[in-house]
Amino acid sequence: MDFDLLYLVLLGSVLLIFYKLTAQKKKFQHKNQLPSPPSLPIIGHFHLLKQPLGQTLTNLSAKYGPIYFLRLGSRPALVLSDRSVIEECFSKNDIVFSNRPLLPSRKFTSYNFVTISAPYGNFWRNLRRFTALEIFSAKRLQMSSNVRAEELRIMIKHLFERSLKGAKEVDVRAFLYVLDFNIIMRMVAGNRCIEKEKIDTDEAKAKMDELTRIFRPDITSALGDYFPFLRWLSYFGVERKLVKLHKKRDAFTQRLVDAHRNSKKPSSVDDIEIKGAVVDVMLKLQESEPEFYTDNVIKGFMQAMLMAGTHTTVMTMTSAISELISHPEVLKKAREEIDNVVGQSRILNDADLPKLAYLHCILNETLRLNFLSVLPPRESSEDCNIAGYHIPQGTQLLVNISAVHTDPDVYSEPKMFKPERFQDITEEKGGCKFMSFGVGRRICPGASLAMRVMELSLGTLIQCFEWENAEDVSVGATETPVKIIFRPREELVKVLDQL
Ligand code: HEM
Repeated sequence: MDFDLLYLVLLGSVLLIFYKLTAQKKKFQHKNQLPSPPSLPIIGHFHLLKQPLGQTLTNLSAKYGPIYFLRLGSRPALVLSDRSVIEECFSKNDIVFSNRPLLPSRKFTSYNFVTISAPYGNFWRNLRRFTALEIFSAKRLQMSSNVRAEELRIMIKHLFERSLKGAKEVDVRAFLYVLDFNIIMRMVAGNRCIEKEKIDTDEAKAKMDELTRIFRPDITSALGDYFPFLRWLSYFGVERKLVKLHKKRDAFTQRLVDAHRNSKKPSSVDDIEIKGAVVDVMLKLQESEPEFYTDNVIKGFMQAMLMAGTHTTVMTMTSAISELISHPEVLKKAREEIDNVVGQSRILNDADLPKLAYLHCILNETLRLNFLSVLPPRESSEDCNIAGYHIPQGTQLLVNISAVHTDPDVYSEPKMFKPERFQDITEEKGGCKFMSFGVGRRICPGASLAMRVMELSLGTLIQCFEWENAEDVSVGATETPVKIIFRPREELVKVLDQL
């Protein structure tokens, strides 16, 4: 009897799913039918999404065109792989596609969607306004420039002292993680993750391993996000892991909030400007707007900065260093530019960056070819029209930026690493040509901070050291270790000695 009931429930669920999927397909067949690969029952096109995702989507667009439809379990998705279609989409439907999908599993890591990854609306707009004014404005970035300079000086001094004891290889990624976590932590909470005396200790390594694990951006989704009938299964798998992870993030940031709340509060805005940590600014605002700046909003924002602001810059810098090792002529040209602008009697600083155009081009070219292939998904908040196709509300949008970044109609010799192409500024600013920081209203708010951190660190490493590849560097493979021997440049030894 019980077995019959179970059988009926299962049969009913399968029929319901079929009905829903057919209804969804009909919705899309509304007017002009979007091109789409053949799909399988229930999973739709899920089985087609092989890694690397950008390449898979590009291969599909070779067959189905610059705009096509995929069904990912219960979620309809639209893939755009061509510059002009992406431009059309965002010039007409920027607001419609300013939503991020409400994936059920993300609820656990976002205090129920009260972080910067919230859907488009008042809450998100207010938080973005806060970031633009209080964190990433030119004035705030200027104020935090001493933090970046100090942290970099500590790491460069450390490299120099290490090299005096005998040139040893440096794990570039581990080195950059300490640097970038310390910078972002000082901006967020006013203190370092790793004290300078401890940089090379086992204790510091263990701490960095833990921090990079806890604050790795949430890019994997649970199966239950796409197959609601599997949610109970993913609850015991991915979702349980996410809940555990979230508890760790929450405990880490709650400790920081409590410490700042209990310490001597900033008495005025001037005092905040001296202390400057994001948590102090947000706690001060909590006094006047407690309903908006709740503890969860503050913690969620601190977590977003630690997640979005560390791995991204570390991965990009590691790729840039790999590219420069493989292209010594580019490294030489960058060093000549720095020597011409800065000289050899001091180390470069934030004020030099606008004059180091070639360094800027190297980072843009690295971003174009490496790091991100598909933008974090968006979701349409209402029906709209793109390239003559009707797109219903609730459609996920996958923007395949790697297809545009390697399109020979957009970039000549697209597979070549040629920073010079960015010397013409329109390469960077020209519509949806360069999209490493995203597009439209959801574009990365930390882009100028990221560029400053990366230009300053990469530029200083180029200026102060000769680089030698300690082993075969595999360019573009972001997970392989990059080991470099940094030898102080003779011309800079005197300056390095005084750090
Ligand atoms: C190389 C460095 C970085 C790259 C390539 C990068 C790239 C991106 C991209 C592609 C997006 C999604 C944009 C879209 O959907 O159109 C994004 C969002 C975001 N980034 Fe960055 N980012 C970097 C560094 C940073 C830094 C340093 C911070 C802050 C400390 C930051 C904070 C954020 C935040 C908060 C969002 C979410 C914005 C929203 O949904 O409203 N990013 N970033």
